[in-house]
Amino acid sequence: MAETDQKQQMHYIQHTDLEDFVRQILIANGTPPENASIVSKCLIQADLRGVDTHGSNRIPSYMERIRQKCLDPSAQPSLRQITPVVAQVDGHNGWGFIAAHKAMERAIEMAQDFGMGMVSVKHSNHFGMSAWLVKQALDAGMMSLIFTNSSPALPAWGGREKLMGVSPIACGAPSGNPRRPFILDMAPSVAARGKIYKALRRGERIPMDWALDKEGKQTDDPAKALEGVMLPMGGPKGSALSIMMDVFSGVFSGAAFAGHVTNPYDPSKPADVGHFLVAIRPDLFMTMDEFKERMDYLYKRVTESEKAAGVDRIYFPGEMEQVMEECRLSEGIPLAEGEVASLNKEADLAKVEHLKVQSA
Ligand SMILES: NC(=O)c1ccc[n+]([C@@H]2O[C@H](COP(=O)([O-])OP(=O)(O)OC[C@H]3O[C@@H](n4cnc5c(N)ncnc54)[C@H](O)[C@@H]3O)[C@@H](O)[C@H]2O)c1
Repeated sequence: MAETDQKQQMHYIQHTDLEDFVRQILIANGTPPENASIVSKCLIQADLRGVDTHGSNRIPSYMERIRQKCLDPSAQPSLRQITPVVAQVDGHNGWGFIAAHKAMERAIEMAQDFGMGMVSVKHSNHFGMSAWLVKQALDAGMMSLIFTNSSPALPAWGGREKLMGVSPIACGAPSGNPRRPFILDMAPSVAARGKIYKALRRGERIPMDWALDKEGKQTDDPAKALEGVMLPMGGPKGSALSIMMDVFSGVFSGAAFAGHVTNPYDPSKPADVGHFLVAIRPDLFMTMDEFKERMDYLYKRVTESEKAAGVDRIYFPGEMEQVMEECRLSEGIPLAEGEVASLNKEADLAKVEHLKVQSA
């Protein structure tokens, strides 16, 4: 593991340059320009929020899936209205970002007309960081619930086989301060599996409580952790939450479930991911102003509550990522040398210009 003991040099990239670069690669690989704009925006939002595990670094693995014909970049999702407040999207094995974006768009329209809208998505792919969907709902003034299932990585509690996904649970609500909405976006494991891939790419070790190796022993080696299983947060409770994601996103939608979603890094077959999205109007039981005032009061109570020893600041869910976004919008997005090289390799294959970088 000599390589993992060496930290790599970091480069800083302006978010607009990175978004444009990713968009060009997507178009060159068969994504229609309008969809390429949506996918690149979602990926760069993850980079901006510090969710580096689910941003532009995913481009090489996504492109590999396109080259292996496991993901159809030109597919357009179709929509079927089931009841006035329920719709279903078929992703037709296209970008998960596009299927989920369309689903949220429809959920918002139904919520505007009827108070809430629920959309189930099947035959989709990985949609990256769930928080971009929460933000899509927030931009329309909506509360939201976003569930997805994902490929096996986590055992059922008491088991040692990779079975359930590290499937994130996300939800959001607007507040009076548009820079401090409530955004919860968390995987039901101690850490998202993408954090292990990131440590591997960057030559870093991982905390001992994130995963077990294939012998079932704790490890700080990301390569050994990827051969083993992720550990659920809160023991059986994290395991139950990941089963819940599979019930709502997999069983309910008609997508793959029970350990049959394909890993986004496995280019051998379509993933058939399922999602479940709900948009809710916050002013159903009071005026919007009252709702926002109550959210602001909750924010104040949480962030101004008495701190435990050694704690400098108490954050509201999503606030750390918001602070990071404010910083990265001005300072740029840091990428490790190896990550820039992988992206430029894709640029060569796509015959587009290399990334514009500044060294740290
Ligand atoms: N699409 C997929 O299949 C998939 C799978 C796994 C993870 N993911 C994505 O990976 C990302 C990372 O997930 P994660 O579980 O590692 O997230 P995380 O542990 O970094 O954060 C989880 C939540 O806790 C909050 N939080 C973290 N530290 C805090 C603190 N000190 N005080 C207050 N709040 C705090 C965050 O704001 C966030 O809402 C998410 O964006 C998720 O959507 C996607």
